[in-house]
Amino acid sequence: MSEYLLAQHIDGVQVLTLNRPQKKNAVNNDMWIALRDAFRAAADNHAVRCVLLCGAGDNFCSGVDLASFGDTVEDEEHPFESAARAVVEFDKPLVAAAQGVAVGGGATVLFHADMVYVGQSLRLRLPFANLGLVPEWGSSYMLQANIGAQRAAELFYTAQWVDADKALSSGIAAAAVPDADLYEYALAKAREVAQWPVNSLREIKRSLRLHHLPAIDAAIKAEQAGMMRQAGSPENIEAITAFMERRPPDFSKC
Ligand code: COA
Repeated sequence: MSEYLLAQHIDGVQVLTLNRPQKKNAVNNDMWIALRDAFRAAADNHAVRCVLLCGAGDNFCSGVDLASFGDTVEDEEHPFESAARAVVEFDKPLVAAAQGVAVGGGATVLFHADMVYVGQSLRLRLPFANLGLVPEWGSSYMLQANIGAQRAAELFYTAQWVDADKALSSGIAAAAVPDADLYEYALAKAREVAQWPVNSLREIKRSLRLHHLPAIDAAIKAEQAGMMRQAGSPENIEAITAFMERRPPDFSKC
């Protein structure tokens, strides 16, 4: 595994913990690669019946590491994209536990989880408009599928913050619990799932995802084309510079 992704096997549940708490678990390329490999390994391991994804410390994940955004990589497919593919293709139940910050990729990964549990401290945001970017990980389809077109559009266009109560009422989460109880609550649910035969769980997931997969694929392709146009655009550079300089962005000239 990697220092950035901890793994523990508990009674058929593979617990994967994003582990970069000093950066609110912002995902650098090493973490994307570890995440990709962990999901592939969990799919191949017959002893794993479901995955529980969580974040170390007080936060789930602050998304792509903006400090290394745009760094070139040697792989033909960017680790960010291959990690997305591994999660989308994961053919066993995925349970997620999110508290504190869940931003960007730290939010969109949740839309692929079969069951999402959130802590009361949740602060979820889709920061694509405010970064001069486009949605990713097929979220432009998955969020609509999960919560409806109107609610999804509002979150994408306004980039507003979503708290635990709104995540629950809108259907992003299945339950909201105190932070102190979140991990045990989600693990108990994951163990409830993991008591059943893995082939049955796989067939259920295959049936549940059947109609979504072609649409997710199309969404990812459209998002990637948009990302090619927007990454490195004046508005994107201004947004990232403003974040690093800890000031509000100025889009007046973009
Ligand atoms: N990439 C790189 N570093 C990040 C990060 C990210 N996505 N998110 C947080 N960090 C770093 C901060 O730079 C800071 O580092 P420092 O202590 O060395 O200065 C540390 O994590 C703590 O974050 P901070 O901004 O001080 O916490 P906060 O509670 O004030 O705000 C966020 C938290 C998540 C709202 C804010 O960090 C943020 O907006 N991050 C960017 C999130 C984002 O847009 N991600 C999507 C990319 S597509």
